[in-house]
Amino acid sequence: MGEGEELNGNEGQLPGRRGGANGRDVVTEGAKDGVKDGVKHGVKDGVKDGVKHGVKDGVKDGVKDGVKDGVKDGVKILGIESSCDETAAAVVVDGRKILSSVVASQIDIHRKYGGVVPELASREHLRQIVPVVREALAQAGLQFEELDAIAVTQGPGLVGSLLVGITYGKTLASALGKPLVAVNHLDGHVHAAFLEAYQNEKVPRLPAVCLIVSGGHTVLYEVKNDAGSSDSGAFAYRKLGQTRDDAAGEAYDKVAKLLGLGYPGGPILDRLAAAATPGNAKAPAKFGPTKTRGNALDFSFSGLKTAVLYHVREHPEYTDEIRKREEAVAAGRRAYAELLPMCSAETLGLVREFQNAVVRDLVERTMMAAEECEVQTILVSGGVSANSQLRAVFAERARAKGLEVFFPDRALSTDNAAMIAAAAYGDFVRGRVADASLNAKASLPLG
Ligand code: KG4
Ligand code: ZN
Repeated sequence: MGEGEELNGNEGQLPGRRGGANGRDVVTEGAKDGVKDGVKHGVKDGVKDGVKHGVKDGVKDGVKDGVKDGVKDGVKILGIESSCDETAAAVVVDGRKILSSVVASQIDIHRKYGGVVPELASREHLRQIVPVVREALAQAGLQFEELDAIAVTQGPGLVGSLLVGITYGKTLASALGKPLVAVNHLDGHVHAAFLEAYQNEKVPRLPAVCLIVSGGHTVLYEVKNDAGSSDSGAFAYRKLGQTRDDAAGEAYDKVAKLLGLGYPGGPILDRLAAAATPGNAKAPAKFGPTKTRGNALDFSFSGLKTAVLYHVREHPEYTDEIRKREEAVAAGRRAYAELLPMCSAETLGLVREFQNAVVRDLVERTMMAAEECEVQTILVSGGVSANSQLRAVFAERARAKGLEVFFPDRALSTDNAAMIAAAAYGDFVRGRVADASLNAKASLPLG
């Protein structure tokens, strides 16, 4: 087992999205069971290019002729997201205005396993999907018939989870006679940054560099307007770099686990790091910048996680407080106010130093990418983009360089369906709709 693998598969954790080069791309066999796979072969990924081949059922006149022209204003798209452990539905108008966004989190179910359990996730999606969609419609004040299209996440993600949303979306679209649009989850995360900007009446300028940083992904893209769709919100992507091992959120979750701080790790470590000021918590260890041979824009976080593990193992004085925190968390006492007094100055310093290292690597490489691509705009999205230090450092660095940086707010940072509905709009206006053969793709590439 390589050094970076130290925590993988060794922590009594059931199989889940965590654990591979692409985290959630690594899907355990059997996750499909119990969900009907309605694949008809012949059409690539079940997605038809409506512009080239024409669109048959359910697409309004004018849409199949291509871009914007002929597409009425006020296009209402229902987005459905079920790629991991959040069942979400939302209605977004014209890819910009959020009418409703409902998210049912499964964190309480997966918490005791320290990670997402695919079988449990699929089952919970099945339970939640109908009430979550109904709630999204109710909050938007709409009837199903008033929708213009249904958008579903096709991948990447856990196959069994994705299939619940896809099967439901297909059925709904067919019953209503409305078009179905397939969305790449990562395209959704990029649109989350745009959605946030639109709510504040701003429009991020393209080209941009986008960092998507979550529990399943840490990846850098160059984002441009897709040819021929200057303002429809359809983007073209070039991958610039990605993590070679753990995603940054995965590193947060594993470090929190080894420190007895529960799951998920990001939010609590974020707050504990903020409580560690240089005056009260000197770093007990130093973690330097991570070097990656080859592509300088690639990331690596497993070495850092292992360095924290070794530091803790070499210092038995942590053992007692870790055990006490584990007991507290197991008993449901996991709030920041309850855990803070149970952390020594050394623990706070260690958490701060870990976060400094993660933030430094994420920011440095993104700034380097922005310089190489000569862009004026940086977009940061995904669960870890909620991190307060990451936001502060990005804002400061971008200001110093005269760049604009956009983050979704916290609700749009983590998985949600508003970003899926927003991402679908560009495809909808270009007539790129899916048919009944649409299938889940665990590792769907972007661009
Ligand atoms: O985007 P997301 O909801 O789901 C995935 O696609 O993975 O991201 C969840 C991840 C978890 O690993 C969680 O620990 C991390 O985002 N996270 C944070 C913060 N809030 C959530 N990481 C650092 N700081 C935070 N404030
Ligand atoms: Zn995500």
